Amino acid sequence: MRSVLRVGVLASGRGTNLQAILDAAASGSLGAEVAVVVSNRRGAQALDRARAAGVEALHLGPGAYPSREDYERALVGVLRARGVGLVALAGFMLILGPTFLDAFPGRVMNIHPALLPAFPGVEAQKQAWEYGVKVAGCTVHFVDEGTDTGPVILQAAVPVLEADTAETLAARILEQEHRLYPLSIRLFAEGRLRLEGRRVRIDWPPGEERSVAAAWSGLRC
Ligand code: GRF
Repeated sequence: MRSVLRVGVLASGRGTNLQAILDAAASGSLGAEVAVVVSNRRGAQALDRARAAGVEALHLGPGAYPSREDYERALVGVLRARGVGLVALAGFMLILGPTFLDAFPGRVMNIHPALLPAFPGVEAQKQAWEYGVKVAGCTVHFVDEGTDTGPVILQAAVPVLEADTAETLAARILEQEHRLYPLSIRLFAEGRLRLEGRRVRIDWPPGEERSVAAAWSGLRC
């Protein structure tokens, strides 16, 4: 029997994506367990959410380390010591370099609140709204050394409505993030993701691809 995948979540802020992951784990729909939550910010709400769910919560700030490499080595040490097989970045506001990424090859995911490759970087929802797009959305992707450039795992589209502000749009995108991230982790945990070049091939359970695609694109396929 395959052992249960242990996920380490890195988060810097309010932690609503972490909450969606914790809720999915609690309901048995994640196919994985959250082993530890680490934040670079001591007061991050994400740490409170982890503790409330009975998950180990650690603050590890870069300021205590002489270099970025030392900090990344410390993060790797914490995650490895807990048997983490997948790292999920959930609003983690630091860029991770090769010292970290090489320790978890193909095993670091991120969620971004835009349809990549459009609008990478910070305040993506505001960027999209100000640009005037009619369809926005969110992306879960594997992490590489670029900023929001790694292979796309799943995307969900969100229409931009006439009455939207950047804030109302961000709120509707966030609802989709909370569906997208736990599903991406489940697919990974079940061994259904395979990298082919920069394309992530998904071995969908029977019938699921069309229903997910239809729900998230608003299109019939
Ligand atoms: C989300 O919008 C996520 O897409 C981005 O950072 C935000 C984190 O929000 N990477 P939360 O902390 O999960 O509520």
